[in-house]
Amino acid sequence: MNLERLDQEHRLIERFLQLLKAWEERHYRKLPLPDGWMSHAVDFIKLFTDGIHHAKEEHVLFPFMENHGIPREGGPIGVMLAEHGDARTLATAMESAWKAGDPAAFFLAGKKYGQLLTQHIFKEDHILYPMAKGAIFDDGAVAVEEAFLQVEKPLGGDQARNQWFNWIDLEERQLKNQ
Ligand SMILES: [Fe+2]
Ligand SMILES: [Fe+2]
Repeated sequence: MNLERLDQEHRLIERFLQLLKAWEERHYRKLPLPDGWMSHAVDFIKLFTDGIHHAKEEHVLFPFMENHGIPREGGPIGVMLAEHGDARTLATAMESAWKAGDPAAFFLAGKKYGQLLTQHIFKEDHILYPMAKGAIFDDGAVAVEEAFLQVEKPLGGDQARNQWFNWIDLEERQLKNQ
């Protein structure tokens, strides 16, 4: 079973978290930041991390693992779901800070969000995904990959997903040139 799509998304989320750190540093050094950076960051978290990525885990991967005998309650799936909930709470705080025009509050929640997601991704990369790969047989792999695409479709499918990869590329390039 290949979880390449999810793996790629983890790497992109990590790059986003690095951007967030770099923006925070620039903010406190009173250096310019890209136009609309707070609203774009909130969009990335809501539409990409939560929408495109967590949705595939919650609607496809985790149920598939449960069907293959990996329990939800008291096991790693339950922990991952709870952390997705915590991430949503922090994302809401970041969104409120953006709407209030309060970068300090944004970075306060953003820092916690970064710490949470960093350790969350580490656990998925090293514990949960290897378990999933072990649980998913070849005949299930096709169904899982097809289900991933179905989850992404209403969110804009490949086109929306690629736009976020391009956006991170662009922001990283801009940062390097500043
Ligand atoms: Fe997750
Ligand atoms: Fe994940």
